[in-house]
Amino acid sequence: MKEAKKIALLTGGGDCSGLNAVIRAIVKSAILKYNYEVIGFKGGYHGLYTDDFVKMDLKTITGIFHQGGTILKMSNKDNLFKYKMTDESGKVVYKDVSDVAIANLKKHNIDALIIIGGDGTLTSARDFARKGINVVGIPKTIDNDVPATEITFGYRTALDHIMQSLDALHTTAYSHDRVMILEVMGRNAGWLALEGGIAGSADVILIPEIPYNINSVAQTIFDRYNRGSKFTIICVSEGAKPIGGDVTIKAIDKDSPDSVKLGGVGDLLAKQLEKIIKPVTGQDIRVTNLGYIQRGGVTNTFDRVLGTKYGSYAVDMIANQEFGRMVVIRNDRMDSVRIEEVVGSGQTGQTSTGGARIVNPHGDLVNAARDIGITFGE
Ligand code: F6P
Repeated sequence: MKEAKKIALLTGGGDCSGLNAVIRAIVKSAILKYNYEVIGFKGGYHGLYTDDFVKMDLKTITGIFHQGGTILKMSNKDNLFKYKMTDESGKVVYKDVSDVAIANLKKHNIDALIIIGGDGTLTSARDFARKGINVVGIPKTIDNDVPATEITFGYRTALDHIMQSLDALHTTAYSHDRVMILEVMGRNAGWLALEGGIAGSADVILIPEIPYNINSVAQTIFDRYNRGSKFTIICVSEGAKPIGGDVTIKAIDKDSPDSVKLGGVGDLLAKQLEKIIKPVTGQDIRVTNLGYIQRGGVTNTFDRVLGTKYGSYAVDMIANQEFGRMVVIRNDRMDSVRIEEVVGSGQTGQTSTGGARIVNPHGDLVNAARDIGITFGE
């Protein structure tokens, strides 16, 4: 294999904090350490398909380190192996246009492509690798549920948002003797609710891995009330579900690889709890859905450093010709795994090697929370 001279990168899927830190590290390392030329495709795979690109030099990455989002923009709707188009009669059809993307890479003499994204984006990265493209993947998600890696950038910044929101909710909950519910993201993994909830001193944490019983949740509120704590803070993961029940779905987006959009469990809980609580204690229940705030804002210290590690390691992998692989962190050290082994967890949470990284209901984190009186609605 010839030595790389020119590389490209793109960001796909949904954004998170730390993406710009990764982009900055890739560009700096590629130019300063290896003297590579770098281009960035804009809008994820859409830019690769339409050949919408920008030459990346040290100036293009000035001042972006701390900013959330991605200067390259991104999209989670452009699967080039099943691309949505309309035919001559105006009918919607899905076509494999990956060869157009490959032709664009050839036109630019790209030796290797770094693809930063979540499960859907990395599934296409795997498919480009199968077609002979030198691909290096970097996992990205605030959900922290990527198998094979201990932590993803964006997660810790999202936790900070959750903790600060819970801190703010405490003072208003206390002042009005209210039950406050904060709904947070995370898809089918409860990491954000669990760690954010512990840090923000939630009284009840509801996560997908531990289905809840509404009466048990109500019991915690009564117990606290009877002890003189007339407010209760509940941190609920968007993927939480009742025992024997299912998740709350906000929308179905057929064009997204992650078509089931979760959301609304906080409102549902409030309705159910109100019937049980209000007649007894008179407490009001209020819901806050933290939503997309979790994905934005100023990138925190941890994610700036983590993004730098992910980005610079990806460029080292190109220099070492380690293609078809994704950067991971194991035992706090940078490493890589075959992309084939980790993609495919999308809506099911399952990959070929076992599935998304989810919370262990009997693990240290859950146990520590239980030890200090946090309940999980069982
Ligand atoms: O996977 C990251 C995430 O923010 C999830 O926590 C959330 O369920 C989903 O993306 C939202 O996706 P979208 O940006 O398509 O609404």
